[in-house]
Formats: sequence, C-alpha cells, structure tokens
Amino acid sequence: MQCLANKRILLGITGGVAAYKSAELVRRLQDQGAEVRVVMTRGSQQFITPLTLQALSGHPVSTDLLDPAAEAAMGHIELARWAELVLVAPATADFMARLAHGHAGDLLTTLCLATDARVMLAPAMNQAMWSNPATQRNQEVLRGQGVALLGPAVGLQACGDNGPGRMLEVPELVDGVCRAFPEPVLNGKRVMITAGPTREALDPVRYLSNHSSGKMGFALAEAASHAGAEVVLVSGPTSLPCPAGVTRIDVESAQSMLEAVHQRVIDCDLFIACAAVADYRPATVQEHKIKKSVDTDDDALQLTLVRNPDIVASVAALKQRPFVVGFAAETRDVLSYAADKRMRKGLDLIVANDVSDTEIGFNSDDNAVTVLGENLEQSFAQVSKQSLSHSLITLFAQQLDAKTTK
Ligand code: C5P
Repeated sequence: MQCLANKRILLGITGGVAAYKSAELVRRLQDQGAEVRVVMTRGSQQFITPLTLQALSGHPVSTDLLDPAAEAAMGHIELARWAELVLVAPATADFMARLAHGHAGDLLTTLCLATDARVMLAPAMNQAMWSNPATQRNQEVLRGQGVALLGPAVGLQACGDNGPGRMLEVPELVDGVCRAFPEPVLNGKRVMITAGPTREALDPVRYLSNHSSGKMGFALAEAASHAGAEVVLVSGPTSLPCPAGVTRIDVESAQSMLEAVHQRVIDCDLFIACAAVADYRPATVQEHKIKKSVDTDDDALQLTLVRNPDIVASVAALKQRPFVVGFAAETRDVLSYAADKRMRKGLDLIVANDVSDTEIGFNSDDNAVTVLGENLEQSFAQVSKQSLSHSLITLFAQQLDAKTTK
C-alpha cells in the first residue's frame, strides 16, 4: 500500500554534500504516491542541478524569492499553501539557525514560515557542527516550534570524521514522512502509557533507579497521538520533551506512578506499560541524609528493600479494564520469560525485547521486538523507536478492535 497516495510534499534542498541523495529521495517519495515539488537554496545548486530535480519531479524547481516569472507561475504563498508537508533534506546548520530565528531571507525559509503544513528537517552536517551548542540550541528551539527532526544518523562523514551529523538514508526519510500521515487507527480512543524509570528514595538526597531513558514510551505516546488517540503519558524522571498533543503526568516513585495511573485509567481503552518500574524500594525513607559511619570498622551498609506494587498487573486485574500491553526486557530466554510474564500478569499482549544487545537495549535509539499474544507471535526487525512505535500502535489497534468485536 502506498503511504503517501496523492500527498503534496514540498522538498527543500539546502547546501550540503548529502544533496546528492535528494534526487533519489524524490523518486522514493513518488513511489509512495506523493506529488513532489522542489525548492533549492543557492548553496544546494553547487552540489546538484535544478535540472536534475526538475526532470525527476516533473515540475519546475523554485530557487528565488524575488523571481517575477516563478511568482507568476506558482507564487511563494501559493506554494506554501499547496504543501501538505515540507521536508528539508539535507538541512544544513546554517538553514536550521535561520529557521530557528524566523529569518525569511530566501525562498525556502519564507515558505517554512508561511506554511501551515508540518515541517520536517533532515539535518546533515559535520559532527562538530552538529554538537556545537549553537546548533543544539537551535534544534531545541525548532522542536519547540513543532518542527520535526529526522535524524541525524551517527557514522562516517564525507569529511572523514565519524559521529552524529550524517543525513538519514533515503528509506528512513521516506519512512519518517509516511509516519507524518498515519492512518487514524486509534481515533476516539483513550490511551494511557507509562514510561521511563522510577526513583525510589533512600533519604532526602539519594535514590535507587535504573537506566531506562523513556525513549520507547515517549515514541509510543507520539505514535498513538498521531493515530488519533487522546494520550496520557505517566512518566518517571526523563530529560525528554513531551510529544505535542500528549498530556504528561510526571511522577517519581513506583507508588506515585501507581496512584497517577489509577486516577485516570478507568476511562482508557488501551493501557501500555512501558515504564521500567523498580521492583523494590527501601523499606523506610530516612528523614535525614544517611551518614558514613566513622566510629566503626564496618564497611558494609545494609538496606532492607520491600516489594513495589505491580502496576500493569493491577490494571489488568481491574473488573472494568482497558486492553493491556506490557513490556518484557530480558537478557536471556527472552520469549519464554515474556510469555510466562504475560500469563502471570494477565496481559493481552507483551512486547519482548533483548536488552543484552546494546544496539537495542536501554537508552538506544533503535529497538527490535517480538509481540506475543494469545494466538500471536509477531517480530519486528531493528528500526528506530519512532518507526517501531508506528508499527506497534497499528498492531495494538488491530488487536484491540479484534477483542472488542469478539
Ligand atoms: O516483571 P517485570 O518488571 O519484568 O515486568 C515488566 C512489565 O511490567 C513492564 O510492562 C512494566 O512496565 C510492568 N511493571 C509494572 N509495575 C511494576 C513492575 C513492572 O507495571 N512494579
């Protein structure tokens, strides 16, 4: 199925060496059914000619803001209104800086300011330029303005450096654009997602926690929201920005996560437990900071831990319960442990992943999982957590529908 059938995509090309990939990008977007028009900055024309892009897109390429002939054909405001999505690939550090500050000194920045359509950028630059605090500030500003960033990827660069700043490959860019036009598979549904780690206080300054970054849960929240759901994200401490349109409730401990979940879960159609909840917490939280003992030779400190409530199992045990999905992060015998966990906790589905693999484990940007259900075992190969979330949400919606129409 073509995921971009009849969609109008404006492709902006700025002056980076990755511009050579933009020609292929036009073709692959068209394969998905998109109509593509191209706007090029002056810098990009040093790397690839407008004639190439004109031949591939089947339309004249726009390059100048103040070109009377181009304005007479399809003026810049008309072009901004025509687009259903603007993708700038490659997006240079300079372009990002100008967009972040609202400049409109050339056609492409003007279009980005004038359009109501979603704007997506595929950054491409040297790793030091990407890591520079100025670029990092600009990307934060752009994200805050609702601009979506696809990538950059980490790897070998044209200049010989190795690091973050490579433009994503064309199939990943097409996938990212497709995700911006999701099927509304969760229209009218209420979804609650737990994400991130919990922190279990020992005393006023210390806690027990784990390495969960929250990336998978946040990506699922974004995908569910794009699929039309009303999403509540109950999150332990993370440094991630809340996806647009999602209601976020911040919690710290497992106990506070449990309370936040039960306050609102009753109205939900789908509950996804993605949080890495601490299984145990200190039996008592000391009122004052625990001091090193100075007058004994004892180097050991004994902590007594007590079991935390199992949040997902408590939701699955409700009389009036949503469709419940859990996660199982395992380091060996992944599928059998996950299947056992699904039964024990009373879950509809469980998403199993192997966290012993550092490429897909905690804190990584990618994941590969197998979803297990009563009569289901479906594997998803390693992709970005964003892309995986899109596929998982589609599967959860199908399974939820199948259960409700049973
Ligand atoms: O038992 P385990 O921690 O491996 O189970 C993982 C699944 O259970 C995840 O979906 C996690 O969010 C959920 N969980 C929970 N409350 C706990 C422990 C785990 O909701 N106390």
